[in-house]
Amino acid sequence: MKVNNLITIDGISGAGKGTLAKSLALELDYSLLDSGTLYRLVGLIAKRLETSDSKEIAKELNSREIIIEFNDLKNLTEVFFGSERVSEELRSEEVAMKASDLAKNSYIRNTLIKHQRDYFDSNKGLIADGRDMGTVIFPQAKWKFFLIASIEERAKRRLRQLKEVGLEVNMPTLIDNIKARDEQDTNRDISPAVPADDALTIDTSDLSAEGLKNKVLKIIKG
Ligand code: DC
Repeated sequence: MKVNNLITIDGISGAGKGTLAKSLALELDYSLLDSGTLYRLVGLIAKRLETSDSKEIAKELNSREIIIEFNDLKNLTEVFFGSERVSEELRSEEVAMKASDLAKNSYIRNTLIKHQRDYFDSNKGLIADGRDMGTVIFPQAKWKFFLIASIEERAKRRLRQLKEVGLEVNMPTLIDNIKARDEQDTNRDISPAVPADDALTIDTSDLSAEGLKNKVLKIIKG
């Protein structure tokens, strides 16, 4: 049985998932799950503890409350790990790469399943953004989208986002990082970033954020 007020947005890095997810959540007054932030938190913990031991990382992850809130006015995802604000630290390319490395690990993925599924409250509705939202976490979702875009366009968007939070990185390095992450996220054995059989794939290269949101709303509203 498909769930009508559950929308999954998966895809490769920088294809516009986050922007679309936030604007749809605001428009439809649904909750928002940014699952990449949970994986980035895993990456941050690994960096801080200087370990890749999945059990040690999962223990630390479960030791504090995780709050992820979208600040509409600042256009920033605020993240608190316990009482500590880690919003900007999570955006670095180093943390993103560590997140992608650890996302291959089944113990880490299993640890995050409950964290993610707890976001869905059928009275409210949910937009879930990630890599395996439609395939593994919420296969029952009625609306599944998989976003792709050219590497040049994705790198441009990522550069803009990094600048917004005060992080500097040059374009060739960024393109190499994105390609390396794509390769890992798409080709891993568990929960690869591939479209669900019932997902609609959209190439966002030539679409504005507004254009993409309207296209998706038109599909959902029929
Ligand atoms: O969406 P993001 O760039 O913030 O995600 C960071 C990394 O986390 C990404 O390279 C792969 C991993 N990830 C994942 O494996 N599964 C998800 N549902 C979300 C993110």
